[in-house]
Amino acid sequence: MSSENITAPTLRYLVQPGGCVSGSFRVPGDKSMSHRSIMLGSVAEGVTEVSGFLEGEDALATLQAFRDMGVQIEGPDNGKVIIHGVGLNGLSAPKKPLNVGNAGTAMRLLMGFLAGQNFEFTLTGDASLTSRPMNRVANPLREMGVVVETAAEGRPPVTVKANGKVNAIHYVMPMASAQVKSCVLLAGLYAEGETSTTEPAPTRDHTERMLRGFGYDGKTDGNKASLVGGGKLTATNIDVPADISSAAFFMVAASIAPGSDITLQHVGVNPTRDGIISILRLMGADITLSNQREVGGEPVADIRVRYVGLKGINVPEEYVPLAIDEFPVLFVAAACAEGTTVLTGAEELRVKECDRIQVMADGLKTLGVNAIPTPDGMIIESGEIGGGQVETHDDHRIAMSFTVAALRATDTIVVNNCGHVATSFPGFSVLAKQVGISIEEQVV
Ligand code: S3P
Repeated sequence: MSSENITAPTLRYLVQPGGCVSGSFRVPGDKSMSHRSIMLGSVAEGVTEVSGFLEGEDALATLQAFRDMGVQIEGPDNGKVIIHGVGLNGLSAPKKPLNVGNAGTAMRLLMGFLAGQNFEFTLTGDASLTSRPMNRVANPLREMGVVVETAAEGRPPVTVKANGKVNAIHYVMPMASAQVKSCVLLAGLYAEGETSTTEPAPTRDHTERMLRGFGYDGKTDGNKASLVGGGKLTATNIDVPADISSAAFFMVAASIAPGSDITLQHVGVNPTRDGIISILRLMGADITLSNQREVGGEPVADIRVRYVGLKGINVPEEYVPLAIDEFPVLFVAAACAEGTTVLTGAEELRVKECDRIQVMADGLKTLGVNAIPTPDGMIIESGEIGGGQVETHDDHRIAMSFTVAALRATDTIVVNNCGHVATSFPGFSVLAKQVGISIEEQVV
């Protein structure tokens, strides 16, 4: 056989229709916080212990990148990671390009974070990541005096010719993006004077909160975040809560499948991430938070979701950045909600791990749902979900969303190319099965 006939085996899900979800359980750790815990722990002074770390491919790519820059990191072992911090100027030049796989957060944050180092470095990734736009972070870094080279149209690989010099800026962000905000602020750690970002709408503030946890004082004033460079980070312990973006799949599952009643334990409910709760509640969902507490500067709660029928809504645009990763599964909720749901102001969905507007609309249409993509959102009519084969375009959240859709389908849903689920939610299919979804994995 010639080599071009050999294709790598891929993973697909076969999900049988119907059922409901029940039980009390915990989903894996928050991806955004896991990335940041490795980054900040690595340049802190002293030993940082992380628990609840997400052992998914994305966060592991960040961990490997810092090992490649000479940081001694123990684990992960059951979510425990011990990082021997080297201080803000203690990293060594990586011997080869840093490959961060599928992880946009790793690439965009590292570009800024490493811009103040005294060595040139290259960041690359998988097919999905190397087709995503990087000028949104390259441009402010260039304004800070950093030489950044990209492939055509601002795509990765990205080479940063860092020479230890970064100028402070006050950056007015053209889009609501926590990755852009974090990139600029992390570069600002190495600049003289105050660096600030002003965002058009609030985005996740884990970088600002975690910096504070490491004893680095920044300021947040409305939509402006700022810090003064030249300080130091002091090692701390970090308890990463369960990821609300992973919990979201089960929140929607319970909201659409009659008879469901689940409790999701120890979920991060930071107000810059809780748009999924607000949107589902607006659709009529029965969601209660209990055991609310603050862990390491981040609010955490247990979330109970019981089935009640949903209704279609016009999604308020101010919720969009607060639920930016949850729209694939919210589109499934919309298909099960009485009436019409309209999403606008969400053009950022087109530059995620795939074009999430187009890919979700295509898949929903395959299953017989009337889903009309628009440049910045979607219009979805409630309707019967049929069976069929849907494509994920190697996007983890698309795979998990169509798995959840099967709870209300009339026939089997085959979800192709699910390997990337391991980037954010290792063990998803096992957990989904345990709590009531009839899912089988197949290697084809
Ligand atoms: C993230 C920010 C968001 C989000 C991504 C994680 C982060 O991206 O979609 O999954 O950890 O900062 P944008 O900054 O592009 O909105």
